[in-house]
Amino acid sequence: METRLDPWGSVHVEDYTKLFEEFGISSFDDILPYLAEPHRYMRRRIIFGHRNYDAVLAAMQNGRPFAVMSGFMPTGKAHFGHMMVMNEIIWHQQQGGDAFAAVADMEAHSVRGISWKRCRELGIEEYILSLIALGFQPKENSHIYFQSENLDVRDLAFELGIEANFSEVSAIYGFSGETCISHMESVMVQSADILHPQLAKYGGPKPVVIPVGADQDPHIKLTRDLARRMRRFLIERRGEYISVRGKAAGQELMKAAESALLGTGLGEVKRYEEHIDLTDLRLREGQSIDDARQEIEELIISLETEHGGYGFIPPASTYHRFMTGLTGGKMSSSKPESYIALTEDPKEAAGKILRAITGGRQSLAEQKKLGGEPERCSIYEFLLFHLSEDDRELLELELECRSGRRMCGTCKKDVAERIERFLHDHQQAREAARERLPEYGIKL
Ligand code: TRP
Repeated sequence: METRLDPWGSVHVEDYTKLFEEFGISSFDDILPYLAEPHRYMRRRIIFGHRNYDAVLAAMQNGRPFAVMSGFMPTGKAHFGHMMVMNEIIWHQQQGGDAFAAVADMEAHSVRGISWKRCRELGIEEYILSLIALGFQPKENSHIYFQSENLDVRDLAFELGIEANFSEVSAIYGFSGETCISHMESVMVQSADILHPQLAKYGGPKPVVIPVGADQDPHIKLTRDLARRMRRFLIERRGEYISVRGKAAGQELMKAAESALLGTGLGEVKRYEEHIDLTDLRLREGQSIDDARQEIEELIISLETEHGGYGFIPPASTYHRFMTGLTGGKMSSSKPESYIALTEDPKEAAGKILRAITGGRQSLAEQKKLGGEPERCSIYEFLLFHLSEDDRELLELELECRSGRRMCGTCKKDVAERIERFLHDHQQAREAARERLPEYGIKL
């Protein structure tokens, strides 16, 4: 069966490894060894895949600018699934990145029919307060914003719409003649969300990572394409030489590129009508041809921006697994028993944990004999994803469960207590965050 990633549907992606082959998502295992202090989502392979994270990693390690960006559709309660994205944004900010969080009110309004007023209430109450409570810092070039209020995003969406055509966007999202135009526009707005951290006003081109669930991958792929299409040059390694291809760059820009390339002294420069070749490479010490290509890429990007272009770098992304619902199956906002909201009464949340489906056996005797199955347990998932930071503790709990020494009743009580404490603290932090909204430029 064909896997289809549909951002507005309800795919439950069963087999994540399929995504690697079918969609060209890379395994996060390639990145993990290079991170000094990976987030627990990374260590525990909850973040399992990425596109082009290498660029973000390199920037992070060399102290160069990078950013993180993601968005939330204000359609209802924010739950622990949304919290993962929030934590991923905050982690990257703590690693030194600029951080951007969008409240996707244009999407919620056009696709889900949520009123602007409701979008604003939900945006603040459900998403923004929790983001701040979890540690999103107000900084220069870090922003929490509503799509509808961000003119940079809206203008960029319009520009991007020039590069995307109807058939292509319809093919990606399964749009038909019945799809309303504003829904299609909201797709361009999301691409603009993703690319706008690279506008000159926000510090110019830089690697930007978009942490999302795998269902958002079509947006990422489209946006990566759009980023490339907005460029004036394409820089390619061709075996032993490097080719800089103008994309209707114009003679003035071609000439500027030629002299910039001559200035590098990296090799013989030959300009043709629409491309420039750099041959007989004279690499610097320790530099590979790919490094040289990267050096030229950066040079050309600044040239493009000096000449009024965008110079966008295709955005990177990370993909995380979804949590299973507490009732088994999917976590769904239409089934309150299946999830725990960040604003939920701590006692009620504890009750949901006590009633949840576990990986336990039919009877106590059987469980003692066979042990539990944490890989099929929604309670264990809460520990794995959220409620146990210490890997050693988690491993111990898992072993106790598997060996039939930890019973579901005890385990549930333990997790219920943890969730109660967590929510209590989080909600206190949310109230403190409310006072700080003006620091983030959010007016009540
Ligand atoms: N479409 C996303 C969702 O359904 C929300 C979103 C809007 C978003 N803009 C974004 C996600 C930019 C990532 C990046 O939840």
